[in-house]
Amino acid sequence: MTEPTMIKTGTTEKSYPTLPGTVGPEVVDIRRFYADTGMFTYDPGFTSTAACQSAITYIDGDAGILLHRGYPIDQLAEKSSFMEVSYLLLHGELPGEKELADFTWTISRHTMVHEQLSTFYRGFRRDAHPMAILCGVVGALSSFYHDSTDITDPKQRMIASHRLIAKMPTLVAMAHKYSVGQPFLYPQNDLSYTGNFLRMTFGVPAEKYVVNPIIEAAMDKIFILHADHEQNASTSTVRLAGSSGANPFACMAAGIACLWGPAHGGANEAALNMLREIGDVKRIPEYIARAKDKDDPFRLMGFGHRVYKNFDPRARVMKATADEVLRELNITDPVLDVAKELEHIALNDPYFIEKKLYPNVDFYSGVILNAIGFPTEMFTALFALARTVGWVAQWNEMISDPEQKIGRPRQLYVGEAHRDYVPVGDR
Ligand code: CMC
Repeated sequence: MTEPTMIKTGTTEKSYPTLPGTVGPEVVDIRRFYADTGMFTYDPGFTSTAACQSAITYIDGDAGILLHRGYPIDQLAEKSSFMEVSYLLLHGELPGEKELADFTWTISRHTMVHEQLSTFYRGFRRDAHPMAILCGVVGALSSFYHDSTDITDPKQRMIASHRLIAKMPTLVAMAHKYSVGQPFLYPQNDLSYTGNFLRMTFGVPAEKYVVNPIIEAAMDKIFILHADHEQNASTSTVRLAGSSGANPFACMAAGIACLWGPAHGGANEAALNMLREIGDVKRIPEYIARAKDKDDPFRLMGFGHRVYKNFDPRARVMKATADEVLRELNITDPVLDVAKELEHIALNDPYFIEKKLYPNVDFYSGVILNAIGFPTEMFTALFALARTVGWVAQWNEMISDPEQKIGRPRQLYVGEAHRDYVPVGDR
């Protein structure tokens, strides 16, 4: 039995339930706090606030541990597949052979998008950022799939979830094809989830596309590493949007918009651009000095994390994968040398040691994606593709949680108090 937590405000002291998790910090249940005290709590950025309970993903930021439904991310990345991890996140358990085959089959049956959706793409400029396109077309899915927007029906929720997981590769590949002026390719369902995506992205109708198994395996691993990450900004955005009863396609579009920012999913694009800008290991000290200078807004992209105060476990796998892919493809990329040296210097610098800043998932992913042939602008779209399963798993969990309420934060009001309107001529 966990002892209640006593909170003293002014001269009164009240007790609040302390809720234990399976692992991780206990949580003080302050839902009665306003009714008891007439006060709100203040926590910009939710640094101390749990907004929900969840059984999907656990992070121990100090130890650098990431578990999906209890399974460590490095084991999943090494031994599992993205389809298997998707099933795990959605349903809570690893699938048996038949369950996995059925799930993979179901996803493959939803890979096509409504034909009319392709006309949406033509409304965008050719140089439109893929994330701008995705914000639009994913939201637009709600106007095509009315039979899976009743969020009170668990069956419809699952169909919408399958549709989103299945259609994201098609939509992301179409964004790429549109930007390079090549025809869209329809999905080919005898390929794996990841193989099909690679073909839709890099294949052309004029030639048979042969999936490179090394690239397929590396890409699948990258998708696993991005599949879910607890209550991060985009997932919280999906939950907040969904808390009002908005349909799942609209909620995912909200998540995509949030993911785009350089402090979140946009960091993979920003990290590679930064490594290219540095260009030579000789220039690293200059950039380290800039990152430490409080008057310079520059930050080392791909470094630091709200939760991890240790190595991001995804970064370790990503670094090993970068080495593997470049070796297998026989590519030497000076950017990888810059990345490794930058990591080495930063990890030995007192500023980064003191602030516990380590490479995160975005630090090495760009090097691999670049080697595979993705343009930099596509990086965050690939993150969105993989994170879709995390978003739908978290969204489903929220909708079926009896404690779920519309998300409605409070504020500390610091504007003008009451004042009377003055006609324009008298101001
Ligand atoms: N370079 C230099 N200094 C940094 C960096 C960095 N990348 N990140 C944090 N700091 C400093 C920051 O200036 C602050 O110093 P001080 O205490 O003296 O003011 C201290 O470290 C704490 O930083 P914070 O901004 O208060 O921490 P946060 O938890 O609010 O931000 C973060 C986390 C990820 C937004 C931040 O570390 C950052 O901007 N990193 C670069 C962008 C990046 O790589 N984002 C990807 C995150 S992982 C993938 C994902 O979740 O999407």
